[in-house]
Amino acid sequence: MKSLRKNTPPIVDSFGRLHNNLRIGVTDRCNIRCTYCMPEKVTFLPRNALLTFEEIHRFVSILAAHGVDRLRLTGGEPLVRKGLSVLIAKLKSIAGIEDIALTTNGILLRDQALELKKAGLDRLNISLDTLDRERFKEVSRRDELPRVLDGIDAAVEAGFEKIRLNTVSVAGVTEDEIIPLARFARDKRLELRFIEFMPLDADENWRSSSVLSGEEVRRIISDAVAPLVVADRINRSQPARDYNYVDGNGTIGFIDPVSQPFCSDCNRMRITSEGKFRNCLFSTVEWDIRELLRNGSSDEKILERVRECVGQKKAAHGIDSEHFERPGKAMYQIGG
Ligand code: 5AD
Ligand code: SF4
Repeated sequence: MKSLRKNTPPIVDSFGRLHNNLRIGVTDRCNIRCTYCMPEKVTFLPRNALLTFEEIHRFVSILAAHGVDRLRLTGGEPLVRKGLSVLIAKLKSIAGIEDIALTTNGILLRDQALELKKAGLDRLNISLDTLDRERFKEVSRRDELPRVLDGIDAAVEAGFEKIRLNTVSVAGVTEDEIIPLARFARDKRLELRFIEFMPLDADENWRSSSVLSGEEVRRIISDAVAPLVVADRINRSQPARDYNYVDGNGTIGFIDPVSQPFCSDCNRMRITSEGKFRNCLFSTVEWDIRELLRNGSSDEKILERVRECVGQKKAAHGIDSEHFERPGKAMYQIGG
């Protein structure tokens, strides 16, 4: 991270965790309906509820002056927001912003991968839970696997070097998918990451028994694809634990928020598409930034609200505790 000037103190929580990473929800809309995220029938926010590109730009500029240097655009599905690459180019030009990533379901990448690359997007995460068309329909309630696979190819062709495939690990669903996905990623030389299913599904079907643990996935891959060894941890605040195949042909990452919480190294803040600021994926409270952006408040006032929110961040999410309270919002409303 770049050194900070004296008059621009960084954003630090009460446990001393430095917050340099902002995740921005750009829409709550999506072109599929994954069961671990969205309900079948959904009412989306009206357009004027969403932060405008100008509002997002101003907010990021304020945070970038205080050490935020990494952004991730999420949704819903961010590529359904019109002109997203225009926003990326605008954000990329802010002093201090060093890295912009995007989490997408891949469906619209054939149309947009090149313009995203040109706009300065650094990294792409593409969700892929299965390579089986029927299974894809069951998981996402839509028949879109062919466009996703074509979107992955389009991203490679556009020259993205850092493309990662994300698989949500659901017990009873993912077991059969692991080996084909691991082989697919290895053949295409893409990184694959398994993310434990978290209690953020709109239908509230999550149970601790519906999580397929990273450890179990690792065992299946080591037995059936190739042995894995732990990779060096380059960045402590990255939530994934990476493993390399011993033959050197690829990396598999594991995000195990349920079985191995990684809250102690968390550097992330979130703003939802409607401008609500959150200090955790599992927050039950939000701080309204849109209100300040629209009522003429100063940059200082906005920063003050950010610091107040981060100051109240808890030590950990506590999914495993009996007092755990699900957030009132689902993944697509928070922006993963
Ligand atoms: N648990 C874990 N991961 C989830 N995602 C969406 N909902 C959940 C959930 N309940 C993942 C998506 C995508 C990213 C936005 O988060 O698959 O990769
Ligand atoms: Fe950070 Fe909250 Fe995620 Fe824990 S649960 S890693 S505190 S965002």
